[in-house]
Amino acid sequence: MGSELIYRGHDEAQPLSDSYSPKPPKPWLAVTRPIRYVLREQRLVFVLVGIAIATLVFTLSDRRPHYPIPNSHFLSESTRLTHQVSYQSHGGFGFGPGSLGSGGKIPLGLKRKGLRIVVTGGAGFVGSHLVDRLIARGDSVIVVDNFFTGRKENVMHHFGNPNFELIRHDVVEPLLLEVDQIYHLACPASPVHYKFNPVKTIISNVVGTLNMLGLAKRVGARFLLTSTSEVYGDPLQHPQVETYWGNVNPIGVRSCYDEGKRTAETLTMDYHRGAAVEVRIARIFNTYGPRMCIDDGRVVSNFVAQALRKEPLTVYGDGKQTRSFQYVSDLVEGLMRLMGGEHVGPFNLGNPGEFTMLELAQVVQETIDPNARIEFRPNTEDDPHKRKPDITRAKELLGWEPKVSLRKGLPLMVSDFRQRIFGDHKEGGASTTMSSD
Ligand SMILES: NC(=O)c1ccc[n+]([C@@H]2O[C@H](COP(=O)([O-])OP(=O)(O)OC[C@H]3O[C@@H](n4cnc5c(N)ncnc54)[C@H](O)[C@@H]3O)[C@@H](O)[C@H]2O)c1
Repeated sequence: MGSELIYRGHDEAQPLSDSYSPKPPKPWLAVTRPIRYVLREQRLVFVLVGIAIATLVFTLSDRRPHYPIPNSHFLSESTRLTHQVSYQSHGGFGFGPGSLGSGGKIPLGLKRKGLRIVVTGGAGFVGSHLVDRLIARGDSVIVVDNFFTGRKENVMHHFGNPNFELIRHDVVEPLLLEVDQIYHLACPASPVHYKFNPVKTIISNVVGTLNMLGLAKRVGARFLLTSTSEVYGDPLQHPQVETYWGNVNPIGVRSCYDEGKRTAETLTMDYHRGAAVEVRIARIFNTYGPRMCIDDGRVVSNFVAQALRKEPLTVYGDGKQTRSFQYVSDLVEGLMRLMGGEHVGPFNLGNPGEFTMLELAQVVQETIDPNARIEFRPNTEDDPHKRKPDITRAKELLGWEPKVSLRKGLPLMVSDFRQRIFGDHKEGGASTTMSSD
């Protein structure tokens, strides 16, 4: 009986090695157990279907703008290939957030209404009209400006709009913003302003452009440079086509601007070729319209302000040098088409209608004051004799050409100048609106 009270659990805890086993243990059975588990009862099929659904959902909710890979005839085949490989291997342009569409922060299922766009120099003349169009299209716009020549009044009608932000910032300093597109306009554009501090002008063009290209690369944004017809210098070819390399004085008083913009173009193309940044280059010819700086030395604003103030119209040289004059709404349309299109450029954006300075003075007399006198002064250094864009390329590849003639555009500018000069203030309200016939 005593034996029934003895605890026998020790026997169960005996090591297995003591027990008899007909076959040795198979260690690979432990390894394949999870695989066999997955294969059983069609579990693998469920896993694959789950992955497929997740892929589909992520693809549909990808909020990146799907830019086409540049296909410009300005690019060599090898550059295009580099671009394709880079695009495919990074899942986007550049790297960093761009490769993830810089959009992981938007909750799944919430669709973005517009693009996030930076406009440097957006408080200036051209920039502010561009901002108006982008905001009207439903984009979110961040203006970056140091107010050297720009004015808050040019954009203050957007204050309070949640799609608009204004940052006082000098582009020679780096800046980090999450955006889809960068329109880079920041640069003093009139001779009076760019000659005021020539070293700062070339630094803005070189370092400022470098900073904005760096930003574009970092966040995978598309970058548009507003270059200028000044890159052709005093051209030996007329009209100027984009393939013309120009005739520029590298040591003259205008060189800070001309050479600065040429270098900015070089940097832009090098970032495109070397870092696969999506870029666009516009070469802008003389543009006029409301919100231009009064007294900035540009010929149209000069003549209009002088005629309104009953001062003589100053014509430099013999007045036979020619220019083409583009109304600002035409330019803005061209810039937006270029940014949205698939061609890198450069593209001439200008009005091919050619006027001598004397002819322009006559149009101003007809529009403002038929009795306005003309006064001749010695010509300024390096003033180009002829300027007229060949816009065949923009017509063919962007489907763009100017619509507003000088005689139709000038009165709109005159009413804006009249308000600002004579204090009948409605600042910022001046728009580019007009019928484009
Ligand atoms: N208007 C034209 O006829 C014309 C012709 C050719 C090229 N462009 C180019 O178009 C762009 C815009 O010209 P615009 O006529 O509107 O000139 P603008 O002077 O009215 O505008 C330039 C803007 O850039 C800002 N800016 C200048 N330097 C800056 C800096 N370092 N950091 C931040 N902001 C700065 C100014 O404050 C201003 O708001 C310029 O790049 C210019 O070179 C204009």
